[in-house]
Amino acid sequence: MYPESLKFLTCPRHADTPLALERGARADVGGAILRGRMRCPACGARYVIRDGILDLLGPLALPNSPTQLVNYLAVTAWGYERLWRPRALTLLSGEPLGYKRELPLIVGLVAPERGGLFLDVACSNGLYARAIERARGGAVGHTIGIDHSMPMLRQAQAFARAEGLRISYVRAKAQALPIASGSAAGLVMGGSLNEIGDADGALSELHRTLAPAGRCMMMGLVRAERKAGRALQGVLGVGGVGFWPLAELNRRMAEAGLRLRAQWQYGVVVFSLLVASGDQQAAYRASSR
Ligand SMILES: C[S@@+](CC[C@H](N)C(=O)[O-])C[C@H]1O[C@@H](n2cnc3c(N)ncnc32)[C@H](O)[C@@H]1O
Repeated sequence: MYPESLKFLTCPRHADTPLALERGARADVGGAILRGRMRCPACGARYVIRDGILDLLGPLALPNSPTQLVNYLAVTAWGYERLWRPRALTLLSGEPLGYKRELPLIVGLVAPERGGLFLDVACSNGLYARAIERARGGAVGHTIGIDHSMPMLRQAQAFARAEGLRISYVRAKAQALPIASGSAAGLVMGGSLNEIGDADGALSELHRTLAPAGRCMMMGLVRAERKAGRALQGVLGVGGVGFWPLAELNRRMAEAGLRLRAQWQYGVVVFSLLVASGDQQAAYRASSR
């Protein structure tokens, strides 16, 4: 993780209390903080930074579905972007939907060149985080990738370092983001809502952390129309992956306070551009008067 992330990080139990880096942290020549501890001044909880990754969950946090368990395995983390991810959306949508179409859609709409904080939530190997960081150019700000699987984060960090990208990686739950309210200029979540556990809790955290003029790009899978697709989704459902009809996805995003600005559907793959609700924007305007 990088010092640029420090001003954005808060305690997962006290969402608006900034974490303090304790003395004695070790950094490398590029400034990456490799080892150390962060402390919450509100509750006194201490969190470890090891091998450059801040761990807000500790050893007792366990996956709560078979799918989440699979994502905790080192072999899954190794193979995710090497084997599955480049082909995933083409296979799932039934039409050519490789990175060349997907990444410009994500990055073009979340617009990292605006600067500020960008979060890739449930990032796996950090595909979106890297695309954002490449596109941020010289704009001031930082990109943070968050996932609850340490092997996924280690692989994400290795991919980012190999490209010379300064991205901070943090182990946390999407339902308790360690980020101050209203601070993210951009949020992205790729394919994770389907397996995240408490999806409403995660959506409400996206809403809480999104800045009033922020943008959220969500890629997810909806319920299949065809019998074969439904049967496959039924099997995946046993492992903890859920597929809502599009109308229900949209209803839940709206209930979380995320306003739908645009949507693109390719088979079961849906991209949604979301912004903070008018109510939230008004609340921010009132509190900053
Ligand atoms: C489908 S993959 C994400 C793919 C990635 N966003 C991409 O576009 O390549 C799902 C990821 O969500 C993570 N995850 C699942 N539930 C989570 C939760 N509650 N909090 C944080 N991460 C979670 C898993 O560890 C896994 O890495």
